[in-house]
Amino acid sequence: MSDQKPYDPSAEGTQMNFDGRMSYSDYLGIDTLLAAQKPLTQTHDELLFIIQHQTSELWMHLILHELQTARKAIIDDEFSMAFKMLSRVAKIFEQLNNAWDVLRTMTPSEYTAFRDDLGQSSGFQSWQYRLIEYALGNRNAAMLSPHKHKSETIAKLKAELAVPSLYDEAIAALARNGFEISKDCLTRDKSQTHGFDETVQDAWKTVYQSPKKHWQFYELAEKLVDLEDYFRRWRFNHVTTVERVIGFKRGTGGTGGVSYLKRMLEVELFPELWRVRTIL
Ligand code: HEM
Repeated sequence: MSDQKPYDPSAEGTQMNFDGRMSYSDYLGIDTLLAAQKPLTQTHDELLFIIQHQTSELWMHLILHELQTARKAIIDDEFSMAFKMLSRVAKIFEQLNNAWDVLRTMTPSEYTAFRDDLGQSSGFQSWQYRLIEYALGNRNAAMLSPHKHKSETIAKLKAELAVPSLYDEAIAALARNGFEISKDCLTRDKSQTHGFDETVQDAWKTVYQSPKKHWQFYELAEKLVDLEDYFRRWRFNHVTTVERVIGFKRGTGGTGGVSYLKRMLEVELFPELWRVRTIL
């Protein structure tokens, strides 16, 4: 047995007394955070299900924070700043993608044990997820409905629809910097989803054909593609996990379940950036 004394960090000046001082838990609100898991059943796996959703919502909170500032940076032609944030958003999606591995350890038997207790609650009603979709440009106003009963949430979602999406701002930046973008595209109702536009594709084509000349837009294009690439992987991981856990049952939110989520795999946030690849 060692005769060394147990290590005492206070001997090196480590703060050990937090009476009247802000501690780690105070600063981070840890007690509030850890009081927010309220399983409705005694089943072992419900805590995993709750924490997986809650941590996803925390990361979505950060995604929204980054997207707001990235959009502002694009508006101000501060592209380098926007790149930093767009890269971070892609990394957050990667983080969320890896998180599915934890949830995948839950079998159908384990989920079925508490699924009925969720009632009709579903990620479909995640207003932060809808805000992310809206901020990036997938703007389906029908998705406002599940939030009708909450005026604060509806106000947030409508406020987002009232300003151009991040992709619309990228297109506006192209126009501002000398690329010819159709008037239809620039003056359309921005509260609606942007559809494919030939002149936007032409602009990206010019960028990809002369990267050195248009380096900032070249980088912007790739950051956006990265982001959508990781987002697509999230959708794919989600639908695969859902099929693995509930098969083809209807969703708790009332959609067809896997059939609905497969349909969502077809969403194209930045259509010209994907299609331009075929003509390069
Ligand atoms: C076993 C785990 C899960 C199952 C079985 C599941 C199932 C489903 C189903 C069936 C839908 C379609 C809507 C409905 O009818 O309910 C849906 C939507 C959704 N889920 Fe999940 N989900 C799971 C985990 C998660 C997690 C961890 C998140 C993270 C926040 C999440 C977020 C979402 C979102 C955002 C939607 C809406 C997607 C859209 O409208 O495009 N889900 N989920």
